[in-house]
Amino acid sequence: MSIEKIFFFCDAPELAQLRLQDPSTTTMEGLLEFNKHLLFVITIIVMLVGWLLFATISNFDEFNSQESQSFFHSNALEIVWTSLPALTLLSLASPSFTLLYSMDEISTPEISVKVIGHQWFWSYEISDFDTMATCMDSDKTLKYTCYLLTEESISEKNYLGFFRLLETNKRVLLPSNTHLRLLVTSVDVLHSWTIPSFGVKVDACPGRLNQVNVFLKRIGMFFGQCSEICGVNHGFMPIALLVVPSIQYHYFVVSKLF
Ligand code: CUA
Repeated sequence: MSIEKIFFFCDAPELAQLRLQDPSTTTMEGLLEFNKHLLFVITIIVMLVGWLLFATISNFDEFNSQESQSFFHSNALEIVWTSLPALTLLSLASPSFTLLYSMDEISTPEISVKVIGHQWFWSYEISDFDTMATCMDSDKTLKYTCYLLTEESISEKNYLGFFRLLETNKRVLLPSNTHLRLLVTSVDVLHSWTIPSFGVKVDACPGRLNQVNVFLKRIGMFFGQCSEICGVNHGFMPIALLVVPSIQYHYFVVSKLF
């Protein structure tokens, strides 16, 4: 492979990063697209309002302008400056709601991943391969308990290229191009399971199950962090996911469980 064909996605924070991370789901693609659209509209608004402000200040000085002394009211102007923002908001509401409700869509999932927040780590369970449908303690359930990998242990083990405060002792393996259902909950306080590249931010509430659908379009190593203040170690419960092709994932499951 020639050097120009090697392509890296941005799935982890970079130094002095300005832009968002690269999307790996259609949800995040939609969010980025909408974000760009909004930025364009905002730019137009800022330019228009800035120009109006500047023109008003320079041309309609109270004492020096003939026009400002005779100008008190304009019906036409009022209609324009009321309807123009309203129409702008309407044009933004349509794509916004479309995106919002598309995120709520639940297609038939192939794998359900239980995501459980703890003070201060995440644990995961996948029981779809438990064909006996026994209980959670069955040995056919994939379980992960993911603690932060400290800086000391990263340098101790000489893990080159590992990210500070983003790596966990176990990486959760997930298949790409598969409809996944995430069931997010907590056993103690509120946490929030967040992966920027997925466009996912789900609250983990004790006593409740929150559901979100994820379809990962590509393989990669994805990182996230807890996004709800949950105590002293809130900043030290990262999420590290390794997404592999579904065939590879199923090889892993067979070799691990059967
Ligand atoms: Cu868990 Cu913040």
